[in-house]
Amino acid sequence: MCGIIGVVLSRCGVLGKPLGSVLRDCLKRLEYRGYDSVGFALIGCGGGIVVRKSRGMIDAVSEKLGFDFYDGYIGIGHTRWATHGAPSDVNAHPHTDCFNRLGVVHNGIIENYRELKEYLVDRGHRFVSDTDTEVIPHLIEEFKRNGYRPYEAFKKAVELLRGTYAIIAIDVDEPDKIFFARNTSPLIIGFGDGMNFIASDIPAFLEYTRRVLVLNDGEAGYITSSFVRVERIVDANGGRMWVEVDFSRRVRVIGWSAEMASKGGYRHYMLKEIHEQPYAVSMTLSSLSENIEYIDSVVKLIAKADRVIITGAGTSFHAGYIAALLLNRYADIFVLPIISSEAMWWMNSVGEKDIVIAISQSGETIDTLKAVREARRRGALTIAISNVLDSTIPRESDIALYTNAGPEIGVAATKTFTAQVVLLSYLAINVARYRNTLRESEAIEYINSLKNLPTQIRNVLNIYEARIASIANEIRDKQNAFFLGRGLGLPLSMEGALKLKEIAYIHAEAYPAGESKHGPIALVEEGFPTIFTIASSVEGELIRSNIEEMKARGSMTIAVYPKNLEDIEKLVRISIKMPIANDFTVGALYIVPHQLLAYYTSVKRGFDPDKPRNLAKTVTVF
Ligand code: F6R
Repeated sequence: MCGIIGVVLSRCGVLGKPLGSVLRDCLKRLEYRGYDSVGFALIGCGGGIVVRKSRGMIDAVSEKLGFDFYDGYIGIGHTRWATHGAPSDVNAHPHTDCFNRLGVVHNGIIENYRELKEYLVDRGHRFVSDTDTEVIPHLIEEFKRNGYRPYEAFKKAVELLRGTYAIIAIDVDEPDKIFFARNTSPLIIGFGDGMNFIASDIPAFLEYTRRVLVLNDGEAGYITSSFVRVERIVDANGGRMWVEVDFSRRVRVIGWSAEMASKGGYRHYMLKEIHEQPYAVSMTLSSLSENIEYIDSVVKLIAKADRVIITGAGTSFHAGYIAALLLNRYADIFVLPIISSEAMWWMNSVGEKDIVIAISQSGETIDTLKAVREARRRGALTIAISNVLDSTIPRESDIALYTNAGPEIGVAATKTFTAQVVLLSYLAINVARYRNTLRESEAIEYINSLKNLPTQIRNVLNIYEARIASIANEIRDKQNAFFLGRGLGLPLSMEGALKLKEIAYIHAEAYPAGESKHGPIALVEEGFPTIFTIASSVEGELIRSNIEEMKARGSMTIAVYPKNLEDIEKLVRISIKMPIANDFTVGALYIVPHQLLAYYTSVKRGFDPDKPRNLAKTVTVF
C-alpha cells in the first residue's frame, strides 16, 4: 500500500553515491508495498527542489528519469499502489504546491480530501492530479501564506486531515528537515551516524542503521541529520496543543541485517524465502523457548477461555484455520476462524471471557487491526501474532507474540506462514497439555516433531524442487484449477490455491473435497487440474471417492499425500509423495510443494512472482 522513504544527510555525497541512487535503492526494498509508479523529491546541493516521478516500476523509471544523476542531502521517495487516481505520471508521488517549494509523499487514504480540495480550489490552488494526497502540499502552502513557518504549517495541515496516513514532506523554506505525521499507516525512524531515515518499513534503511523508533498513531515531528523531534496533540486549557514526546525509551536495535533483506543470489525473493523456511522455523522455535515463561502464561489464558476466535487475512487466515482445527481437535476448545474483513459481523456476542487471536505477518493489515480494536472494545482479550516487532497490531493487542522469520519481501507470504503455523502448533500442543486433553508423553513427542521440522523441510526442498518445477510445465497453460482437501488438507488447499492465483494468474479455487460434488464439479472437463492435499490416512480414506469422481470426468488429478498411502499413486495422474507428518507438522511441511508449484508456474508463464499485479504486501486500506 505504498512505500515511503526519507533520508537526511549531514551533507551531499556522504554515502558515496548520489542521493537519487540512495533513494532508488531504499525504494527497491519497499517495492513489495506497491509498484505502479515511483518518484522522489530532493533538495539539491545548490538548493532548490527537484521532483522526478513517473508511472512504472522502479528500475525502469529510475533508468528513464536518470535517478543516479541527482544529488542532494535531503530527499523523500515513494513507490505507489494506487488507491485514488489511476497509475499515471501525474498521480505518482511526490506531490507539490503551486510554487514547487514542497514535496509530499503519503501512504494511506485522506477521507475528507474532496471537501479540503474544494476549499483550496476556492482559494486559488491549482490541482494537477486525481489523488487525495495532493491536498496536503496545498494545505501546507495555504497555512504558509497565512504566516505560519513551514513546520507549523505542516502540523496545521495534519490537524485537518481525516483518514489513514503516513506522510513525509520536505520544504525548501526549512530545508534541513523532513516533516512527518502518522495515523494508522506505519512509519519508522532509523537513527544513523550523521544521518537519519524515515520509512514505511525497516528494510528500506537496514543498510545504514538498525536503531529504530516505531512512531505511534497521532505523532508528528521532524528529523534532521542529527536530531529527531516527536510531538503529539493533547487537550489542554480548553484547547488542543502539540507537546513534545519523550521517545528515548522506545528506541530499539533490531536483529535483522541488510543481508536478510537482500535476494542473496536467488532469482527472486520468493524463492529465497521458500528456502529460508527451515531457518524461519528454527528461529521461531528458539524464540519460543527463550520466552518460555511468557509463553506459558499465554497458554494458560487460552486454556481458560470460553471461546476463541482466530482472525487474519489471506495467508495469515489460513495459518489461523490450521490452528483452529488443532485447538478444537486436541484441546477441546471451541475455536472459530474468521477472515478479518468479515470479523465485524461475528463480534456481537464476543465478551470478556473470550480470546481473539489476530494473525498478521506485517502487523499492519487494516482489517485485522479493526477486528482487534472491536474485540478489545467488547472486553475480549486480544493476542497478536506478527513477524514485525512493534508493528501496529501487536502494539494495540493485549498480548504480542512474534514469529522470528526475518524480513519477508516477496509479496506472496511463504516463510512467515510456516513460522505462524509452527508458533500456533506449539501453542495448541501446550494448551492441550494444560487442559489434560493430551497426554504428557504425546505432547513431548509432538514438540520434538516440531524441532525436526527444519530438517524435514530442507529434505523436501532438496528432493522435490526439480520435480515440482517439471510438474509446473503440466499446468502452466491451464486457465483454472481446483484445490481440494478435507480437515487439515482444506486450509492447505486454500493456501495452495491462493499462491497459484496470486502469482501465476491461474484461476484457482479451494473447496472442501466433500463439497466439490455440490456444484463445483460441473466445471470439470477433460484436463481440468484438481490438486488434492491429503494430510493424514483418515483424510485419505474419505477423499478417495472424491478423486474417483474427478477422474471420471477427465480431470487431471494431482495429489500431495503421505507416502504410506500407497494406493493414491495408482489413483492420480501426478503424485507428490510426502514424508509422513503428524497434525502439528503437516501444515508447515505439505505447504512446501504448493509454494514451489505456484512459484515455478509463475516463472514458466513469464511473470515476476515477487511483484504480482494489482497486489501489495501490506494492505492498509479497507
Ligand atoms: C498472500 C499474502 C496475503 C497476506 C494478507 C495478510 O500470499 O501474502 O494474502 O497474507 O494480505 O497480510 P498480513 O499477514 O501482513 O496481515
